[in-house]
Amino acid sequence: MRCGNLVALLLHGVSALAASLTQVTNYNNDAKAKPGMWVYVPDTVKSDALVVAIHSCQSSAQKYFQNSKIPWHQGSDKKGYVTVWPSSTTECWDVSSKASLTHNGGGDSNAIANMIKYAITQYKIDPKKVFVTGGSSGAMMSNVIAATYPDLVTAVSLYSGVPAGCFVSSSGAAAAWNNTCSGGNSKASPEQWGNVARAMYPGYTGARPRMQIWHGSTDGTLSPNNYQETIDQWTNVFNVSLTPTSSKSNTPEKNYRTDDFGPNVEGIWAQGVGHSVPSHLDASEAWFGL
Ligand SMILES: *[C@@H]1O[C@H](CO)[C@@H](O)[C@H](O)[C@H]1NC(C)=O
Ligand SMILES: *[C@@H]1O[C@H](CO)[C@@H](O)[C@H](O)[C@H]1NC(C)=O
Repeated sequence: MRCGNLVALLLHGVSALAASLTQVTNYNNDAKAKPGMWVYVPDTVKSDALVVAIHSCQSSAQKYFQNSKIPWHQGSDKKGYVTVWPSSTTECWDVSSKASLTHNGGGDSNAIANMIKYAITQYKIDPKKVFVTGGSSGAMMSNVIAATYPDLVTAVSLYSGVPAGCFVSSSGAAAAWNNTCSGGNSKASPEQWGNVARAMYPGYTGARPRMQIWHGSTDGTLSPNNYQETIDQWTNVFNVSLTPTSSKSNTPEKNYRTDDFGPNVEGIWAQGVGHSVPSHLDASEAWFGL
């Protein structure tokens, strides 16, 4: 890293720099789960914010970073914030085992929290500007991180996931698929979903991340029912009404509807869109205040 910086300094002004996605081999991870940590520090850091971009199933930090539909690399270059790209060791993220569904339980969520802590120190991040985003399995993990590490995250923008705890495995298996949940048949009251999230960090009473939840109406992988269940969960956690305080049609684009439930929960319903809703850099950055 230091050597890289020196080379960067020497080259500065000589030729255009080209920041690249780099692996952090030791991020002080004491969790049993050992996902990889990759980081992208733009050539010109202009912000003390951090965005954690969590990949979908059958992907990796590198694949997600290179995916032209995933705009966080460009956002980082333009606005000068650092991005962290966790890389799973399993096909999908572990959002099913007790270890991952518990604060400091040693699962994938614990390891990602360790990446965030490492990044805050290493890249001089303002701990009040830590943002998490992801699609599909990465969206599920974003919900799990929000529930297990509310103390570490400021805001979340997730695309096409399921509520925190919806993919729980009755056998306790890690990174298990859950057909009941994916099929939209895991239904519970807002209070029950709220309890599931609260139980992931028992006794926690501090601030919680603001949640922006996107889902497509024709999602054939993670049933659109999961949209309402996720809204139910976070409106309950924030103790706000399920009646939107504001509702805007054709926002942020045609056939999308944006519903706000007070300042901390926002739902974006994409009519006619399947799995997964494409990342909307401007709307997610706006939610993060970037
Ligand atoms: C799937 O998740 C639901 C909760 O969403 C849970 O009740 C059920 O036991 C899980 N199924 C399996 C096979 O683990
Ligand atoms: C939730 O909000 C209502 C008012 O809208 C209040 O009466 C109630 O005490 C709150 N519950 C919790 C757990 O804060």
